[in-house]
Amino acid sequence: MSASHPSDPGVDQAAVTDDSLLTVHEKMLGRQPDEKARYKLLPLNLLFFFSGLIFFGGTYLGRFSGYFHPQVYNEYAQPPKPGAAGAVAAADPYELGKKVYAQVCVACHQPNGMGLPPAFPPLVGSEWVTGSEERLIRILLHGVMGPMKVKGVDYIGAMPAVGPGSGYNLSPEKVAAALTFVRKEWGAIDVPVSPAKVSEIRGQVGNRDPWTSAELEKIP
Ligand code: HEC
Repeated sequence: MSASHPSDPGVDQAAVTDDSLLTVHEKMLGRQPDEKARYKLLPLNLLFFFSGLIFFGGTYLGRFSGYFHPQVYNEYAQPPKPGAAGAVAAADPYELGKKVYAQVCVACHQPNGMGLPPAFPPLVGSEWVTGSEERLIRILLHGVMGPMKVKGVDYIGAMPAVGPGSGYNLSPEKVAAALTFVRKEWGAIDVPVSPAKVSEIRGQVGNRDPWTSAELEKIP
């Protein structure tokens, strides 16, 4: 030991040869001290999990946050009063009826309600429209077949049933609304037809074939 380092007697050196020094250095070079080596990488699964969670959260908020409107979570908020600004427009039977007419009736009775003679009779000024509500409701619920006189003209056609259970399957509300619209627009009668009345007649009559106008005329 002292043979290798005679100039430094104070250090109690282990015996080192050049060879042993080289091998020690080689080992140390191979393993550099690494600060990060004390940390573990986040498991990849966890990364996916949180990404998924953030994505879900974003989607959920986007859908259900109600645009963060202050009224959305206000448990003391009052529902809008009918007729007040912001009340649902469809609550107005005239407006609803206008829509139903445009969807169902317009194809035959035309946008202006004049019909298409000789196939489809007019509603404008028709004595059926200004006449008995009971008959009108029955016409829509179950339809009409065969000859029918409208404003002095004979029609022989078929008015389809449009009420509940028919091909059009309109609810009592929609049937009533359609009649409310037609009566006001072309019969100058501004009295709404009530859905309850439609349901009542539907309950009384049940299922049946289309009416003939002779049968309808017997109904007051
Ligand atoms: C597929 C064509 C067709 C559709 C759709 C139709 N109707 Fe008719 N409607 C007729 C025909 C045809 C008659 C005449 C029946 C006859 O000749 O026996 C008639 C008769 C009437 C009458 C009695 C006669 C008159 O002109 O006043 C009323 C009221 C009426 N329809 C209202 C409606 C309403 C309201 C709707 C929509 C909910 C409607 N119709 C949908 C073809 C149609």
